[in-house]
Amino acid sequence: MPADYVIVGAGLFGSVFARQAAEAGRSVLLVDRRPHIAGNCFSERVEGIDVHRYGPHIFHTDNQRVWDYVLRFTRMNAYRHRGVVRHGDRMFSFPINLLSLHQLWGVTTPAEAVKKLAEARVPIEKPANLEEWALSQVGHELYELFVHGYTTKQWGRDPRMLPASILRRIPIRLTWDDRYFNDRFQGIPEDGYTRLFENLLDHPSIEIETGVDFFAHRQELKAAGAKLVYSGKIDEFFGYRFGELEYRSLRFETEHVTGDHQGAAIVNAAEASVPYTRTVEHKHFAMQTCEASVITREFPQKYTRGGEAFYPVRDVKNSGLYDQYARLARETRPDVVFGGRLGSYCYYDMHQVIAEALTTADRELGLPQTIRRAA
Ligand code: UD1
Repeated sequence: MPADYVIVGAGLFGSVFARQAAEAGRSVLLVDRRPHIAGNCFSERVEGIDVHRYGPHIFHTDNQRVWDYVLRFTRMNAYRHRGVVRHGDRMFSFPINLLSLHQLWGVTTPAEAVKKLAEARVPIEKPANLEEWALSQVGHELYELFVHGYTTKQWGRDPRMLPASILRRIPIRLTWDDRYFNDRFQGIPEDGYTRLFENLLDHPSIEIETGVDFFAHRQELKAAGAKLVYSGKIDEFFGYRFGELEYRSLRFETEHVTGDHQGAAIVNAAEASVPYTRTVEHKHFAMQTCEASVITREFPQKYTRGGEAFYPVRDVKNSGLYDQYARLARETRPDVVFGGRLGSYCYYDMHQVIAEALTTADRELGLPQTIRRAA
């Protein structure tokens, strides 16, 4: 039986869309080229510890609808992320807050911090890139300590070539509040991300096929479904006809250790000379105190076709290229729904992808307002 929807990609966008379609009475065939569901959120139990296989995923949102939606499929624990940055043998709290400024400059009150920062700031009226924005906010010393090396490694380019929006996501607080995210709702799924996806996709109208490459089976899949929802790379969908969009990729090195390796879920390595950006100690996401431990070091690397595309590089050139593909999609393939981090070429957080999937599904499925609010 052909499905009403063929959905490409079992990450957050595809899975949330699949659930919404199924609950609206539609049948769904969900395919993913990887051997598992959950996209980059995929996690696995190793020695009783939930290991985030594609980098750390910390859920946070201010969106009540998104939070309520997620709670239908999992319980969330009380994890609140607090960043730690290592620079040589010095450790700092991050994002920049009173504790970081106390560790660096010895300030003890907000007024002292305001005074020191006012002296440090570089007056730049209209910051044109990430570096200028950082200098205008915190000055050279903090920029060199926290931002320059880390950002250069993560993105593989000079911070003067990057948009300030990448850094502006992170708060600067002149209080002792050292949480990474401001959002009202935060946590990690109690039974892991993969279980969350299993629950999300547990519906009789959803059929799942993993290990299936859409491009190798394009014709059959076209025949199998009335409408296509595509959350893969938009440039690949169109055969790279305008050229390739740039992404940043990652390589992970995972090690089994014992005891408590670093006392925190994530320690960032700020220096440019250290080849990895951060070390994740997974058990801290679940506040586990077991003797076993699994750590993962994250090495940013160049993305090449066929590799794993992690971060869209949304600079001026790539944004222009994406606009060309988006126009092509609108004009020639109005029958296809594009979405998600790769389909929309956006540096999305998880909650933003869920919100995008819910509103896209509302529109696509023609759900009346009352159902939309209850969903
Ligand atoms: C969060 C996640 C990240 C995920 C991203 C998109 C955490 C801690 N980070 O990133 O894994 O891929 O959402 O979903 O959960 N920076 C520094 N020094 C640092 C840390 C960050 O300069 O020590 C700068 C870098 O330019 C970086 C930017 O801040 O690109 C953003 O930092 P990141 O940790 O990626 O934060 P989020 O964007 O919130």
